[in-house]
Amino acid sequence: MKKADILVLDFGSQYTQLIARRLREQGVYAEILPFNVSLEEIKQKQPKGLILSGGPASVYANDAYFCDKGVFELNLPILGICYGMQLMAHHFGANVAPAGHKEYGKATIDIQNDSALFKNLPKKQTVWMSHSDRVENLPQGFEAIAISENSPFCVFGDEKRKFYALQFHPEVQHSEFGKNILKNFAKYACNCDSVWNMGSFAKTQAQKIQEEVGKDKVLCAVSGGVDSSVVAALLASAIKDQVVVVFVDNGLLRSGEKEQVEYMFKHTLGINLISIDAKEIFLSRLKGIVDPEQKRKIIGNTFIEIFEEEAKKHQDVKYLAQGTLYTDIIESSVVGASKTIKSHHNVGGLPEKMNLKLIEPLKEIFKDEVRALGIELGLNKDVVYRHPFPGPGLAIRIMGEVNEPSLKLLRKADVILIEELKSSGWYDKTWQAFCVLLNVQSVGVMGDNRTYDNAVCVRVVNASDGMTATFSHLPYELLENISRRIINEVDGINRVVYDISSKPPATIEWE
Ligand code: XMP
Repeated sequence: MKKADILVLDFGSQYTQLIARRLREQGVYAEILPFNVSLEEIKQKQPKGLILSGGPASVYANDAYFCDKGVFELNLPILGICYGMQLMAHHFGANVAPAGHKEYGKATIDIQNDSALFKNLPKKQTVWMSHSDRVENLPQGFEAIAISENSPFCVFGDEKRKFYALQFHPEVQHSEFGKNILKNFAKYACNCDSVWNMGSFAKTQAQKIQEEVGKDKVLCAVSGGVDSSVVAALLASAIKDQVVVVFVDNGLLRSGEKEQVEYMFKHTLGINLISIDAKEIFLSRLKGIVDPEQKRKIIGNTFIEIFEEEAKKHQDVKYLAQGTLYTDIIESSVVGASKTIKSHHNVGGLPEKMNLKLIEPLKEIFKDEVRALGIELGLNKDVVYRHPFPGPGLAIRIMGEVNEPSLKLLRKADVILIEELKSSGWYDKTWQAFCVLLNVQSVGVMGDNRTYDNAVCVRVVNASDGMTATFSHLPYELLENISRRIINEVDGINRVVYDISSKPPATIEWE
């Protein structure tokens, strides 16, 4: 079993993986385990420290989540964050109650006592809070370290036992010195060295794949996006000709996508794809379906059915490799105690029973880390920096039923948007850009005639890992060009709107 420097126990926060990721950025290898993992498993990993994550529950509620109380007796440094902090406080006898003033968003903390956590950091700093409960008094053996306006015990700790508790989230970007705080915990409390990097990640993943697969073969499903391309490259480096690379045309692709993907794999990766035409089956199963979750599940199930059919045509294919990322997993809620946001096609959209075993080497990392891994594996920059495109494709960008006429309209609008972004230099400055067909008709006037046609929404966002995003501040002239061209060139669209919502509270895709 692989050892981890730091183990993060997950109590269901949407940000748990960010904790591990911030530590990886500092060269510290961290792994996430569910909050109720056994003490035995923790001990086997021989960690140098533990972190208790945030989570949506309240420690005083009937449905509160508790870890094994023995974790506090392991003689390991522990950092509790938000719910993790309240859990520590509760365990050591303090009172946790609903806060008179809930704190969401930015706050300032005032560091009043020295601590290893804040070594070499300013005494006043901006942090990011998201809590409705607060700790009312100090637990036994702890000392106050920092206060905020609404949390008199915002940070406290016991330097002797190396137990620390933070009400705020150091893992999110908005906490000014958050990553330094996590690094200080790893370095000064846990004595971790900084030796982990993407090269070591590629090596351990390749070894893991070789050990698991043995002499069997792996079917690798690719979409042309960076995630599955990186998985294909990783597999090719680890098990060479034991990998069968498959691309499915599900009829939900963008204009020219199939040809682009085939070309890219052949010419930049040197891999010959098996292309499967499954347009009819996907579109017939989506007929009449309007519910986003149902669409996602139908698409996820159909993909697997097709992969399993294809696998039967090759000898010894026992595994299916997917480019699943941590973001897909957390939003589909298949880890710990987090809530379902949407069922990503390759996670929550999978059938209950599968004949092929899954290999998902990227499931613990984020898109920008995948990109760094792609560069490490020698992939072309065009592949690595392509905008993400979701597996369910245009189906989740057409509100309501998916059918050929809607797909046609959307494809035409999308081509124009991407052309305009590329020619203006904005494509590379944004995370993702696409059109959404709203299933809304509105009245227009074109050449003295009344029109009653479709409205399209343009969505362009900036993000670094897809967990949070802001709408891109495109210049008005560019927006004007996009709108004018779409309305003039796409018959059936007479109105273009721009989505100015951030994530959260919206998500990037509309469904
Ligand atoms: P949301 O809409 O959840 O999207 O804010 C975050 C990122 O994930 C992509 N996405 C998906 N990718 N299968 C995928 O492969 C899916 O089912 C899926 N749903 C969303 C989305 O395009 C964005 O980049």
